[in-house]
Amino acid sequence: MISIEELRNMQSVPKTIVITGANSGIGFEAAKFLATKGAHVIMGVRSLVRGDEALARIEEEVDRPKVTLLTLDLSSLKSIEAFVKDVKKHVESVDVLINNAGIMAVKEGKTQDGFERQLGVNHLGHFALTAQLFDHLSLKARIVNVSSQAHLMGSFDFSNLQYENGGYKPFKAYAQSKLANITFTHALNARLKDKSIQAITVHPGVAKTGLFGRKEGVFVFRVLSPIFGVFAQPASVGALPTIAAAIHPSVRADELLGPKEKGHRGYLTQNDRINPHALDKKNQNELWTRSEALTQVTFPL
Ligand SMILES: NC(=O)c1ccc[n+]([C@@H]2O[C@H](COP(=O)([O-])OP(=O)(O)OC[C@H]3O[C@@H](n4cnc5c(N)ncnc54)[C@H](OP(=O)(O)O)[C@@H]3O)[C@@H](O)[C@H]2O)c1
Repeated sequence: MISIEELRNMQSVPKTIVITGANSGIGFEAAKFLATKGAHVIMGVRSLVRGDEALARIEEEVDRPKVTLLTLDLSSLKSIEAFVKDVKKHVESVDVLINNAGIMAVKEGKTQDGFERQLGVNHLGHFALTAQLFDHLSLKARIVNVSSQAHLMGSFDFSNLQYENGGYKPFKAYAQSKLANITFTHALNARLKDKSIQAITVHPGVAKTGLFGRKEGVFVFRVLSPIFGVFAQPASVGALPTIAAAIHPSVRADELLGPKEKGHRGYLTQNDRINPHALDKKNQNELWTRSEALTQVTFPL
């Protein structure tokens, strides 16, 4: 377990950290925390207007933060490629890549490249981003994939991965995409054996963020959003597993970090329950092959 107090008191943090979906919710709180600690944070945002607003909020609390705002739309392979080029122009190497951006239980739709929207933004976009940024990662870099406890409800049907044959259900598709996040972590670590780069998964518990009330979200989640808000923890607390995965020295590849268990206030758990589908080598390899084929991006491994 990781003590939250120890995490908050950590002084030495990695130099360069890229965060996707950094203008809102968990990504924003992680960006602010890491900027407070002196890291150079590259905030990937799909709207520069919302990005500027987020940066202004960071500047209110952090003295001269080292933050770079770059546009990134994970629903477009073209935008991902341009973002990677921009990152490479701005920094010599990246110490931590936090694959955080996400959408939840939205109505059926497609990304600009024709992928089912939740798999496309939550998994395929991050897969393509990680692959293209891979040769710019530092020797001991960490890749943090933000999943969800919803992954426990997910399963893969590779014959209908993008609901080509119908049967789309918004939450089922979300659960599959979050299962893909954690399966990607394990598939990646299996290929990283002789390297010191590590992939880690986190889940934030239930945190009060923009995720529940989005206009693209299905009616029931938008209506229930204020109720979730009452029970949810603040986004700053939901961001702690992500922050720990990015900077805590005790974190190891393949771990799933989450919020504290009942009775252990002030701690984060390091070995939360993982859906066996994510640990299945066949699933890992199939997801990897399909992701490379769909995105037309290959890892330099
Ligand atoms: N909050 C929770 O309780 C909870 C629980 C489990 C897992 N999670 C996970 O936590 C992560 C962060 O979500 P959050 O709760 O912080 O929600 P949030 O406040 O809605 O933040 C999501 C972020 O993702 C960005 N985003 C959405 N679509 C994008 C796209 N196509 N390209 C680039 N960025 C995009 C959003 O940008 P815009 O502002 O421009 O839309 C926003 O910055 C997600 O992966 C989510 O699945 C959250």
